[in-house]
Amino acid sequence: MKLRRSAIVAAAGLTALLAAQTGAAGAAASPPGHAAKPPVAVAVPRDSLRGLASKVGLRIGTAVNTDVLATDAQYRQITADQFSSVTPENVMKWQVVEPTQGTYDWSAADQLVSFAKANGQLVRGHTLVWQNQLPGWLTTGSSTPAQLRDLLHKHITDEVSHFKGHIWQWDVVNEAFNDDGTMRDTLWLRAIGPGYIADAFRWAHEADPKALLFYNDYNIEGIGAKSDAVFALVKQLRAEGVPIDGVGAQGHLDTKYGFPDQMQQNLQRFADLGLKVALTEVDVRTTLPVTTPEALAQNADYSQMLGACLLVRQCISYTVWGFGDAYSWVPGVFAGEGSANIYDESLQPKTQYFALQQVLSLAGGAPHRG
Ligand code: XIL
Repeated sequence: MKLRRSAIVAAAGLTALLAAQTGAAGAAASPPGHAAKPPVAVAVPRDSLRGLASKVGLRIGTAVNTDVLATDAQYRQITADQFSSVTPENVMKWQVVEPTQGTYDWSAADQLVSFAKANGQLVRGHTLVWQNQLPGWLTTGSSTPAQLRDLLHKHITDEVSHFKGHIWQWDVVNEAFNDDGTMRDTLWLRAIGPGYIADAFRWAHEADPKALLFYNDYNIEGIGAKSDAVFALVKQLRAEGVPIDGVGAQGHLDTKYGFPDQMQQNLQRFADLGLKVALTEVDVRTTLPVTTPEALAQNADYSQMLGACLLVRQCISYTVWGFGDAYSWVPGVFAGEGSANIYDESLQPKTQYFALQQVLSLAGGAPHRG
């Protein structure tokens, strides 16, 4: 059968077919650990990122700004056509889902889950335990340590239960370490002690035993003090039987720093513990205005991160932190920097997009070799 003859492919169907034909690693028709039914077969452009990634058993994801998704048809079209997984950029965070104590608002996140289902996409849940974007009632309240532990338990149980069966990977704990490898001083560490991480994974697992549970952090892409500390932690968690399934490296790079050291080897050492790995929040910022060398460095960073993931069998998804420069979190946080995404301010694909497309084509065999 000549697959290349069909201009449009059904993502799930093609994945299954290619998995059968080529034994593609981790082909994701029935994704590992996913409770929900396999995603519906939808027509996707053959040369889209998701179309190409489906041939090599990889999910290509994006963070989604649900406000833009609701109002911009072009944004919606790109999200559906190009990506096979979505992450809510903000709307599953505690601040959004429980703005008033005891009153949940799942509406925006529910809409994204429905969008994903309609478009044959999986959902990365983000994020259950973090020190940022917490509701004011929690951070300004006067809860005792024991009460904070109960509140965290309830938050995890309620949120994971609400989305049970709809989440592929949960970022259970986010950014718990400092760059020097010490544990970050957060309200959770202060109230509960270092055991809050194991507690969080156990509570999440109780609420949805089939979701893949991830530890997620930045500056752990390469080998270094921080990734060493995370490695030691997850090794210990595995040894103690704590239900952790994966480690997510966020992948927020900046062209003014070099590429992370030994990224492939770093991902592989986590995989060798029996864990899955993922790139979860990829973007590559630079100082504005962008010069040609900086743009080339951005292309290289995007490509090399994808290459490192593709070279590690247990790397199951590569997610960009949004795709359009107009909606990036970067300019608001890193003064004078931006242009971090793969589409420009008018939602036109940039060279970074074509760099990813090329790497995926190469990984699956160039089209004329099909
Ligand atoms: C960011 C969002 O992109 C912004 O819109 C929001 O104002 C702050 O959070 N690491 C994470 C993400 O895990 O949740 C952060 O997202 C970016 C850094």
